[in-house]
Amino acid sequence: MVTTKELDQKSKVLNQFVDKDKKHFQLINKTYQTNTESDYTEKIEALGKNFDYSHNSNHFWGDPELSTFYGTPLYEQASHAQKLALNHLFWVGQYQHTASAEANTMLYNQITSGVFAHIGGYETLCQELDFETSQERYHINTFQKIGYKTKIALLGKESFGNPLHKKLNNQTNNNLRYKLQELPKWESIQNSTFRFLTKLMHQGKEKYYSQYLQEKGSSIPTATGGLAGVTASPTAFKFLSLNWGSSPFLAAQYYSARMVANMSLKTYEYRYYKQFKDLDRKGEFIPTPIAVSHYHLLDESFHTTMSQVIAQEVYRDFPKPTAYEKLLSNVIIFLLQRGLLSGLSAALPATFRDDVDFIPSYYRLLTSPLFNMSKQDTLHWLEKCLCQEHEGFHVNLKYHEILFSDLSRFFGRLEYLWPVNREMRLMAEGGSIEKAIKRNQIAFKQFAHSVNT
Ligand SMILES: [Fe+2]
Ligand SMILES: [Fe+2]
Repeated sequence: MVTTKELDQKSKVLNQFVDKDKKHFQLINKTYQTNTESDYTEKIEALGKNFDYSHNSNHFWGDPELSTFYGTPLYEQASHAQKLALNHLFWVGQYQHTASAEANTMLYNQITSGVFAHIGGYETLCQELDFETSQERYHINTFQKIGYKTKIALLGKESFGNPLHKKLNNQTNNNLRYKLQELPKWESIQNSTFRFLTKLMHQGKEKYYSQYLQEKGSSIPTATGGLAGVTASPTAFKFLSLNWGSSPFLAAQYYSARMVANMSLKTYEYRYYKQFKDLDRKGEFIPTPIAVSHYHLLDESFHTTMSQVIAQEVYRDFPKPTAYEKLLSNVIIFLLQRGLLSGLSAALPATFRDDVDFIPSYYRLLTSPLFNMSKQDTLHWLEKCLCQEHEGFHVNLKYHEILFSDLSRFFGRLEYLWPVNREMRLMAEGGSIEKAIKRNQIAFKQFAHSVNT
């Protein structure tokens, strides 16, 4: 059994950067110990395995305010059964997004851990990151199981093949087919260019190149969907994979991007966590998804601590960032703000993106057996919900304020960031109902035109 003291001594010998007295090493050791001793992951797995929609269908999964279309004119008109469904579908949508984000986390935990492994003294940090990766696998599995069963129960199998959906899918497939034919040639040129640029920009740091990337050989892993999907293309993420896997500073900087995911999730997951506590105290029935959220928040609190300590403290152990590293870090946070945080959804609470990307899903939902609306009725209601001020916008603004203040506090401490990132200026600008309505009016017009032609 290796004691903390022995680990500390090992660090002293091996690591040129580490000062064993630094508080963050104690915090990392403590987090790893508590995380491995807890049993939340096992509970999440069991809840996923035993989930039966019909046992949970008559209860709200958390506050009704956490429902798709909450506070819109459509919500006021909806029946009780429809309100329950909108509440359940919101949970499913949020955790589908979380599952994609966590799949990306699994990749970048491994890439960056492969850098930290080259620097003596960070063994516990690497063990914690590997442990987190294994936890995410169980989380994703449970979210997907609950999501699939709920969607089948509420929307039916045919909802996965709605004509509009098919039309959009066919277009995507055609584009994809074309791209795939071109792929081998372009991929190899791209990969070599990215490798050349990364090597050039990180000269002298070859010894830090991620073990994980080394094992991947000539292919460069990338991220799709989740937060990555709204930030940049999978091609751009290949470049980031190489960069986050090439220097200690950038490997640590990745955790400031991960912190955006941690905090975005916590903004609404905390509400489920509180609901669990309330129901538990009163001895009332606790719907399975609320219990999953509750235990997930507990697991994620370890991950959030790690994101925070790496992004705010550990990076200071390493050589100061070069001009290139500063530039790239700023571009990453800027794109993350622009893609994920610069809007305000009219129909999805705790979502700070424009509705333009969600309109096809709203359309599918209103034309599904759940609402059974005609094309004209759907367009009528979509316009009312997306292009006019209503209570839902104000509820969303409340969540916006919570996340904005959390993120400003977090990024405000990172001195290498530009003011636009340190002060979360794009997110601040996005918190406007008036601007959101204006953008929705344009998006709605285009959508209505595409459906009518
Ligand atoms: Fe997770
Ligand atoms: Fe996590």
